[in-house]
Amino acid sequence: MLKGLLHTHLLSVILFLLIYLVKTFLLLANKKEGLEKFTKMVKVPEMIISVLFLGTGIYLLMQFGLTKLLLIKIIAVFLSIPLAIIGFKKKNKVLASLAFLLIVASYGLAEVNKKRIERQIVNPKLADITNPDYNLVKHGEAVYVAYCQRCHGKGGTNGPGGLDLTVSITDRDTKINRVVIGTDLMAGFKDVLNSQEVEAVVAYVETLKK
Ligand code: HEC
Repeated sequence: MLKGLLHTHLLSVILFLLIYLVKTFLLLANKKEGLEKFTKMVKVPEMIISVLFLGTGIYLLMQFGLTKLLLIKIIAVFLSIPLAIIGFKKKNKVLASLAFLLIVASYGLAEVNKKRIERQIVNPKLADITNPDYNLVKHGEAVYVAYCQRCHGKGGTNGPGGLDLTVSITDRDTKINRVVIGTDLMAGFKDVLNSQEVEAVVAYVETLKK
């Protein structure tokens, strides 16, 4: 379901981009009639695509939460909409091109940073392995709250965007592998978590098993 939504979102973004690519090209090439014809032709599809694009975007946002990068992306998209409307209505090439560039930039930004995960703060006391009271599972819980909870939910259940970890049947090594490398819908954590943190978080996840 989530995967389908992600694909629908991506597809609608690409279609949206293609429509604006043609429109911007026609405007820049002074093909007024062609632009009018094309605009009329894609009017209904464009409306459907916009609704899909915004609807899936809002739903995904509610699932995965807001990050700094997403915020920039959303601002770029919402800036480009009035620019595009005014630009094409007034046949203003600068505004129309700017709107197109903004949409492309926000799409590119999302693609480039897809796998980037922001570093979070984990309680250093719990992470200190030289501490005689060091507890792998407690450390793992802190890592979990910082990095995983937003998708997998508190205690591994009710995750809005993730898989219910309490019913996961994969073994520890597979879990470690998935956390490090990632899955279809989950980016790998190899660049943000060290091996101790990965081991700890998986040890915690193992305790969630029903
Ligand atoms: C952006 C949301 C997101 C974040 C953040 C996230 N996950 Fe996931 N995770 C998922 C989704 C969605 C799946 C389902 C796998 C799929 O279809 O790609 C998954 C799958 C998994 C699996 C595989 C389940 C199985 O049965 O093998 C494990 C283990 C896992 N996540 C652990 C973690 C841990 C540990 C963290 C934090 C370090 C984490 N996840 C952070 C979304 C997320």
